[in-house]
Parts: sequence; structure tokens; C-alpha cells
Amino acid sequence: MTSLPEGRSYSCPICMGLGYVVQRQGEYAVARVCDCSRHCELCDDLGFVIEDVNGVPTSRKCQCRMLQDRIRLFNEARLPARYSDKTVERYEVHTKQQGFVKSMLSRYRDAFSPNAKGILLYGGTGVGKTHLVAGMVRYLTLEKGFSARFVDFFALIQQIKAGFSTQDSEARIIAELDRPDILVIDELGKGRATEWERTVVDSLIAQRYNSGKTLFITTNYDVREDKLGSLSERVGPRVMSRLYEMCEFYALDGDDYRKMRATPIS
Ligand SMILES: Nc1ncnc2c1ncn2[C@@H]1O[C@H](COP(=O)(O)OP(=O)(O)O)[C@@H](O)[C@H]1O
Ligand SMILES: [Mg+2]
Ligand SMILES: [Zn+2]
Ligand SMILES: [Zn+2]
Repeated sequence: MTSLPEGRSYSCPICMGLGYVVQRQGEYAVARVCDCSRHCELCDDLGFVIEDVNGVPTSRKCQCRMLQDRIRLFNEARLPARYSDKTVERYEVHTKQQGFVKSMLSRYRDAFSPNAKGILLYGGTGVGKTHLVAGMVRYLTLEKGFSARFVDFFALIQQIKAGFSTQDSEARIIAELDRPDILVIDELGKGRATEWERTVVDSLIAQRYNSGKTLFITTNYDVREDKLGSLSERVGPRVMSRLYEMCEFYALDGDDYRKMRATPIS
């Protein structure tokens, strides 16, 4: 009895039959084919198999090639290295709300199709928002074959600013973020929220809005009110109203996991 796709084996203790491993490599989390799956017995490493379709021999991409495609999709998402081992399964539930969000995300990712309504996670620091979106990206690329891109909002702003001197134009950087099925914007609103930063957010969100493509967002800012220090104040009411249309909002509560794990010195 096996529920694993053909060619995956329980016998590999390194990848647990997934066929890939994810490691930290410099700034990013990088996936590669596990040693157990280096050689493909299905196609003898040709990359395709011949099938009989109504009496006509037809070539079809082999699953080893599909694994390579998915690994490329994961690597193109550019998840930060410190999230290379994060999965939705490895998110521990400490509160009722965390349990609700975790099971909702598990269902969401299995039902996902391009242009699906996105997800916005809000809550305090260290409650696992980035962990969960990283886990979603990992699953949706490696297990489902969707394209994704992860950007840290603050780093994106810095990159665009740096581009002013390197000819890497704001328009080009933003246009590139319209390609993937899923765009993750981590820590939306972080930064100085200057007039110029708001125009960047505005064009980025407007672009995804117009193409109808999925957004995953995390933020530490309050989304509920229009008050001082809220997300709306950071990104402006126009972006805020688009976000309401493009994403389902979920609160993550709980304590800062890093603090919970730190051993108190007494
Ligand atoms: N519920 C949890 N279960 C397991 N690990 C968690 C949980 N919450 C947070 N962490 C871990 O704590 C660290 C901080 O979480 P992170 O996702 O960066 O928080 P946030 O983005 O909400 O500030 C990460 O290493 C993350 O994997
Ligand atoms: Mg975070
Ligand atoms: Zn393996
Ligand atoms: Zn093959």
C-alpha cells in the first residue's frame, strides 16, 4: 500500500520519499533533487516516456522532469534561507485561532488554483506569519507546481531605491512581480511610509489587482481600524480597499515564539 506518487520511495531517510531536499544556501532556501532520485528508472534519464494513446505512440514528460521543474519553481520563489525548513505541518498550535488558521491554510493550499483569492495574515511579531506563508510557498511550488515569488517589503523598497543608480528601473522590478501565480509580500507597510513608498505599493498592488493574480500578505500593522499606526494609514485607503477585495484577512494571535523558546536566565 502506498499513497506516494510513482517513483517516490519510503526508503529514503533523507527526503522521506519526496525526491527533493531544501537547504540554506547564502541568502535563500534552495531545493535540489535528493540523491535517491538522481537516476530515474522510469525513463532511464531521458526525461520523457512513450505512452500508447489510442494506438499511437506518444511522448510525455517524465515525472523526474516534473520534479526538476518544481524545484526550479521553488528556487525562483527566493524564500529567505532561515525559512528553508518551515512547513505548514511544522507550525505548532498554541491557541484556538492558530489552529483555525493552520487548518484553513491546509485546505486552501490543496484547493488552490491560479487567480484564487489571496490570504492576508496579521498579528504581532514572532507568531509565525512568515513561517506559514513560507510553508505555503514551499507546498504550492514543490508539491503543486505553481510559480511564486516572495518579497520582503522593506527589502523591495531598498532594491528599488538602489536601482536609481544602477539603471534597474522601478517599472522593471515591479513588472517582474506580476509574473508568478502567487506573490508574497512579507511585512507590508514596514518602512517609513513616505509618499514615494506609497506610490510603489500602489502600483504593485494595482498591477496584481488588474491581472487578477493571487497575493499572500503578512503585516504587523493593525488592519481593523483607520487609526494612527494602522495598515491603512501606512499604505493608504485605496490600497487598503483593494486588499479587502483581493485577500481574506486572518488574525494570528499568541506569544512571540522566539521568546517562548528562549531559556530564561534566573
Ligand atoms: N507556532 C509556531 N510553531 C513553530 N514555529 C513557530 C511558530 N511560531 C513561530 N515560529 C518560529 O518562530 C520564528 C519566528 O516566526 P516568524 O514566522 O518569523 O514570525 P512573524 O513573521 O509572525 O514575525 C520562526 O523561526 C518560526 O518558524
Ligand atoms: Mg515575519
Ligand atoms: Zn531521498
Ligand atoms: Zn524520468
